[in-house]
Amino acid sequence: MVDDQRLRLTVIGTGYLGAVHATAMASIGFDVLAIDVDERRISMLDQGTAPFYEPGFEELLSETLTTGRLEFTTDWARVAEHGDVHFLCVGTPQRTDGPGADLSFVQAAVGKLAPLLNRQCVIAGKSTVPVGTAAWITEHIAANSPAHDHIEVVWNPEFLREGFAVQDTLQPDRIVLGSDSPEALATMREVYSSILEQGTPLIETTAATAELVKVAANSFLATKISFINAMADVCEVAGADVTDLAHAIGYDTRIGHRFLGAGLGFGGGCLPKDIRAFKHRADELGVGASLRFLQEVDDLNTRRRRTIAEQAVELCDGDIAGKTVACLGAAFKPDSDDVRDSPALTVASILDRHGATVRVFDPQAHETAQVAAPHLQIVKSLEEAAVDADIVMLLTEWKQFVALDPQAFGEIVANRRIIDARNALDPVAWRAAGWEYQGIGR
Ligand code: UGA
Repeated sequence: MVDDQRLRLTVIGTGYLGAVHATAMASIGFDVLAIDVDERRISMLDQGTAPFYEPGFEELLSETLTTGRLEFTTDWARVAEHGDVHFLCVGTPQRTDGPGADLSFVQAAVGKLAPLLNRQCVIAGKSTVPVGTAAWITEHIAANSPAHDHIEVVWNPEFLREGFAVQDTLQPDRIVLGSDSPEALATMREVYSSILEQGTPLIETTAATAELVKVAANSFLATKISFINAMADVCEVAGADVTDLAHAIGYDTRIGHRFLGAGLGFGGGCLPKDIRAFKHRADELGVGASLRFLQEVDDLNTRRRRTIAEQAVELCDGDIAGKTVACLGAAFKPDSDDVRDSPALTVASILDRHGATVRVFDPQAHETAQVAAPHLQIVKSLEEAAVDADIVMLLTEWKQFVALDPQAFGEIVANRRIIDARNALDPVAWRAAGWEYQGIGR
């Protein structure tokens, strides 16, 4: 039953962020209406089908739909009428003509909503945006919304990780709210009251700070990964082991163990494009020199894909043309079917260009990989990928790959050669089973 006293929420954009946010908010009792311009996506969600692979999400979606508190629509007038708080969750991909963020989805959504807003409400931005976007939205509302005197903008960045999206939404490690309006901040505290009661840290700040918190966090994570990959390069030539190095430095609590996994580097729809957009925005603001290191972080990261492909060529005695390569993994990380800027697919494509017969298997990203890389042979089983392979490339560390029995797996391939591009396997066990094993920086 819907509690009439409760704030009514809308969610604009139903990608990973929006679909999960809408469902999670309805699951904790809010009356939520979510909108997207993609009618197919809306009808899938409406029928309880997840448009992407995310552990636990589809179950929560179907359960929540039965409560009647979660609805999907393509009707902007309904959204404008429904929302006490409008969560803006549209995508901000990289522009096709440069490194900056493409804000066209933000502009389109605000452009649709603004003239329809006849009542008091809060617009809560969750999309990852260049600093200054909240200020632009505030100006746009002031100029275009009938109820502009009663509308506030808050920035409320989202830190969810794919693969843990439901958990990260319902048990976030912090909530950040950015606004100058005490009323709007109070409304947002009310939205998150049950989560705040769990003891979740709350940071209230300005909108600009909140916008920056998100890109700063992703930049730090990306830097940490590129740092350890730089160490891997040094370990490689010095005959040292980067996994031991990471283990040892991580005990310093100022450093920590997480995000020190050396290997193929970061991909996905967030880290790569966020560091580029952040650097670009800093250039626009005249402080590009301060973020120049992000260019290096990015270059180091993209370079890994080429060097790891070259490592495979070398392991095949300098010539991979005509050889059969089994690529394990296509998604940018395990527990996801997302192949945006996927390091795994880049490596597979480079080897394909070298004339190898490349077969790619991923437990969930079969369809997305086929669309993103139609030139590659994406197969439906691990066996199909590995049969008679001259070399195996572990590119995404899915549990089922990490759990492989090197002895039994060795029976399928033609040559027991493996590059563990995620340092996810036990070198001792694989070598003992007769494999020529190469990790990264170890
Ligand atoms: C990232 C952030 O971690 C989230 O906090 C943020 O909310 C999200 O972006 C976003 O901006 O929406 P996500 O893209 O899901 O989340 O992926 P991560 O778990 O951060 O992994 C990113 C990449 O780094 C993956 O390709 C992963 O394989 C790689 N990685 C991660 C490493 O190469 N080494 C590591 O030690 C950790």
